[in-house]
Amino acid sequence: MDFHVGGFIGGTDLAQGSRDQWTSSFGFFAAAVGSAVGLGNMWRFSYLTAEKGGAAFVFLYLAFTLAIGIPIMLAELTLGRGSGKSPIGALAHYGGARWKPLGALFVVTGFVILSYYSVIAGWTIRYALEALLVGMPADPGSHFGLISEGGGAFIFHIVFMTLTMAIVAGGVSRGIERVSVIAMPILFFLVCGIAIYASTLENSASGYAYYLNADFRNAFSMDVLVSAAGQAFFSLSLGMGAIMTFASYLGREGNLPRQAVSIASADFGVAFLAGLMVFPIVFALGLQGIMGEGTLGTLFVALPRAFLEMGAAGRVVGSFFFVALVIGALTSALSLFEVVVSAAVDGLGWSRRKAVLLMGVLVMLLGGAAAFSLAILDVMDQVANNLLLLVGGLALSIFAGWVMDDPIGEASSGGGDPKGLPVWRFLLRWVAPPTLVFVLWHSVPSTFANFLALFRG
Ligand code: PFF
Repeated sequence: MDFHVGGFIGGTDLAQGSRDQWTSSFGFFAAAVGSAVGLGNMWRFSYLTAEKGGAAFVFLYLAFTLAIGIPIMLAELTLGRGSGKSPIGALAHYGGARWKPLGALFVVTGFVILSYYSVIAGWTIRYALEALLVGMPADPGSHFGLISEGGGAFIFHIVFMTLTMAIVAGGVSRGIERVSVIAMPILFFLVCGIAIYASTLENSASGYAYYLNADFRNAFSMDVLVSAAGQAFFSLSLGMGAIMTFASYLGREGNLPRQAVSIASADFGVAFLAGLMVFPIVFALGLQGIMGEGTLGTLFVALPRAFLEMGAAGRVVGSFFFVALVIGALTSALSLFEVVVSAAVDGLGWSRRKAVLLMGVLVMLLGGAAAFSLAILDVMDQVANNLLLLVGGLALSIFAGWVMDDPIGEASSGGGDPKGLPVWRFLLRWVAPPTLVFVLWHSVPSTFANFLALFRG
């Protein structure tokens, strides 16, 4: 990629005055792809595809990614780099103080997502360790029941958050970037390797058939549409300022439209590859019944059973799979946490250390609710995806499309050809807002009902 870092990394005390910056274009790219690629691509994408009926869901998800995801990704990149500030400051920079509450909403969303995300990431750490040390559980169904809720889930959530905090405390270039440039290539090789292995299994064809043959009878139900929209935002890390925050550490040079397309392509590529590993494996071993239940836990039950039945090869492939999940989860959590931490550093003047410590403990506590109740975890996931991220995305498209003075000038200021950018602005103005209002109109009542059902027991 063609940008250099325009840099000042002043003294060592990055919390005061001078802002940290990415040290290379690949560093930023790896961190942004690290944010996008995570549990969303492997766990959430697979269970939603299974639940919502296969390829038709994948198609809708791709459509949302292209028509709305990439435009909003570019909007976040533009706002972040142009202002050089974390989201609350960035929105105030271009829109005035009245837009600060939107930035605050992003921080709240970061808290909510990271809290339950870290619990699921904790399960993956546990599965990875168990796969490496003792092998797959003999009864994956009851094993999942045992580890997914309660004290064990809480402890692994704390372990995962501690790792996340340690890396974010290191700063942007010396913490997040350093980890991402190593972790992302490893993740990519693992996922490719497992997908290739899956293709060699007997009977894998039925898995491909399920995954790739669209049955469009389902595609136009509102439920599938809402899930595809929520998944597109979640998977691309959009609608809560994560990409904006990362972009605020960029130098002035750099082709942002190209970055937006590259990050989104890498993200979709890994989700698609994840499907190419999960479905052939599950179908080859005749476990589609479990997968078809399409609940939060299916991946954590169906796949370990498949790995168990594969014997020694299964143990190796299973270990790789869960290690890949841990890597994906960790690099995504870094960006979720950076949204919260940068808000405290920039907005409250805290040192990075203090922000990491206090905010980290808060996330640990809030995540406790999800660790002790799968029902709460499920509702947090729905509220975040079907409500908070979509509202954030709607507000961002209105902001960049209608409020900002010269989005096209800002987006193209670091390089690249601005010729295609009027199309971008058109999508932000006329396609994203009505589509997202329509989707929200249908998702809000059911999300609310599920939320209230929690309190009725
Ligand atoms: N994109 C991540 C995933 O697919 O797992 C999740 C995520 C990260 C969502 C960062 C939102 C975000 F700001």
